[in-house]
Order: sequence, then C-alpha cells, then structure tokens
Amino acid sequence: MPLLWVLRDVLEMTGTKFGCGIAACGACTVRVDGDAVRSCVTPVSAVQGRAVQTIEGLGTVEQRHVLQRAWVEHQVPQCGYCQSGMLMAAAALLGRNPDPSDAEIDAAMTNLCRCGTYPRVRAAIKSAALELGSPLRGRRTSRRA
Ligand code: FES
Ligand code: FES
Repeated sequence: MPLLWVLRDVLEMTGTKFGCGIAACGACTVRVDGDAVRSCVTPVSAVQGRAVQTIEGLGTVEQRHVLQRAWVEHQVPQCGYCQSGMLMAAAALLGRNPDPSDAEIDAAMTNLCRCGTYPRVRAAIKSAALELGSPLRGRRTSRRA
C-alpha cells in the first residue's frame, strides 16, 4: 500500500493530496527523515522505523512554521491544491540548505502548480531563508525548517 493511501484513508490525514499517482506532480510530497518524498509511489513498508512528516506536522494555526508565514506574506496559494506538497518540498530544501540560490530552489522545487505560483514560491522560500538566518532567529522563529 502506498504511504499516501495510509495517510489519507487509514489515518484520515487529508492535508497531503493525490494528484497524478505516478510521482510526476508532487502534490503528495511528505518528508521522510527530512527528505522530500512522493508518497503516492512510496510503499508504506519503505518508511518503517523512519520519521514521516506531513503538512499536518509542519506548523499550527497558532504557531505557523516560518515557511507558512512566508507563504501568507507572499500570498502564494491560488487554488491551493498543490501547496501542501510545495511546502513540504520547501521545508526539505531549507532543512539541508538554509540559504538556497534561485538555481538551487528551481532544482529542488520540481512540484507542479497549474495556477503558476512558481515565482511566489521562490520569493517565499527566499523570505523564509532570510528569517531563518536573521539575528532575530529564535525570537521570531519558533519552529525550524
Ligand atoms: S500524486 Fe504523487 S507525485 Fe503526483
Ligand atoms: S495553487 Fe493551484 S495548483 Fe498550485
């Protein structure tokens, strides 16, 4: 059974979306041990004993993740369908590279968005990276990427 099915149908965590089912769109992206993984093609057996983080675990309404604050600041989501996958891919990127260049963002963010939010996604990642690197870090940022 794919991890996506377990998340959505068994655990009823529907923040992670189904798009293509063939690892092409990224709507189903979650983090496994910090890395971005397409859960539609990941057998649940492959994540046994590993840390799985979904959009539900990224932040809360009261305590948003730095990326979620940047997403709001830049008004990234349009229809919103792809956005949980986008956020998880962005979190994985900042987790291993806290100050990515435009080229590194473009290389890492292979998720598809039919609403064309790519420029805003890039701007929001830059904002989040700036906040993570600011001297106010720790006071303004309660959750790390
Ligand atoms: S639904 Fe998994 S990549 Fe599209
Ligand atoms: S915001 Fe609509 S598909 Fe990305």
